[in-house]
Amino acid sequence: MKDNTKAIRDQLGRTSYREHSVPVYLTSSFVYDSAEHAEAMFAGEKEGDIYSRFTNPNTTELINKFCRLEKAEKGVATASGMAAVFNTFAAHLKTGDHVIACSALFGNSIYIIKNILPSWGIEYTLIDVDDEEGWISAFKANTKMVLIETPTNPGLELLNMSWLADLCRKHKAIYCVDNCFATPILQKPMNHGADLVIHSATKWIDGQGRVLGGLVVGKEEYVQPIFDFLRRTGACLSPFNAWLLSKSAETLELRMERHCSNALKLASYFESHQMITKVIYPYLPSHRQYELAKEQMTAGGGIVTVEVDSDKSGVFKFINQLTIPTITANLGDSRTIITHPSTTTHSKLSLSEQEEVGIKPSTLRISVGLEDIDDLVEDFDQALNKLA
Ligand SMILES: Cc1ncc(COP(=O)(O)O)c(C=O)c1O
Repeated sequence: MKDNTKAIRDQLGRTSYREHSVPVYLTSSFVYDSAEHAEAMFAGEKEGDIYSRFTNPNTTELINKFCRLEKAEKGVATASGMAAVFNTFAAHLKTGDHVIACSALFGNSIYIIKNILPSWGIEYTLIDVDDEEGWISAFKANTKMVLIETPTNPGLELLNMSWLADLCRKHKAIYCVDNCFATPILQKPMNHGADLVIHSATKWIDGQGRVLGGLVVGKEEYVQPIFDFLRRTGACLSPFNAWLLSKSAETLELRMERHCSNALKLASYFESHQMITKVIYPYLPSHRQYELAKEQMTAGGGIVTVEVDSDKSGVFKFINQLTIPTITANLGDSRTIITHPSTTTHSKLSLSEQEEVGIKPSTLRISVGLEDIDDLVEDFDQALNKLA
């Protein structure tokens, strides 16, 4: 059966009410037939839900779908994408360990690595996406984990996942890929040697900017410690959010197809406009890693990053002229979103730190929505022409 069919049809069994749509199991705990049943459940002799901090039918349904989509053995659902990142670190790392990550990670992941882990005696090395030698020489005897994102945010640079998997295997490091930007529809890191795949389900998986959620799926031996840590420390996903995200999984493939085709058309339009000095989109032949993009991804994704031929005030004027896109910091919505990373998502970085991750005052990140592409192009065109 194809992934998309699984994501649509895999769901919890029907209750005696014969509902077609799976209900939301808003319950903190589950009941037992007898004291003996409760004892057996707590002893792990019988399978089933005990308490929603550990498991819940709705989170189980969501996890099962994403294990299937990501070709993973086991998974956990978390309260947000950041909870997924943090719990992955916290469950696996201890004082004296070393972590390697790409320097263009999402800002809050970098914050955890730079500011929280060192206070617990965990060292780190951040490597530029392109620094092949840097990756090879970064591994040490105490390197326990490697975390990357591909494509990166907002520079849309790619890392060769299989190449890095070989290095991680050689050094026995747990290899984690944050697959938020691509989703399992466009890229399956487990097929490229990842041990764990992390998601902010808040983005494309939700797809309508409604709830926060996160997932970690992967090899059982690496997911189990995260499950054990999470059930005690509590950053679990609410059953309602799990229910909603599981419903969204039914349309993920369809939505990603439209996000990607709209994004490719918009990126091609930008390439033809004199006021745009740079267009970054993995499936444009002008992307410097176009060949790798075609190898690792089945389409280019829903994000287009551009540089406008203007200073900050001109860029602001352009944004303010747009009538369809919304100015907000989220991404992965059915509605097109425009973000000025330098003054919003990455404003806590100095200008030189921003430059290091490919952000200039003229950079804009566009999360391309599901609107009619002709309307989008027309709107961007009128705003750019006013700037010209
Ligand atoms: C790549 C990536 N990972 C993790 C996160 C964090 O996700 P959340 O906002 O759901 O905590 C984000 C948020 O933008 C992200 O872009």
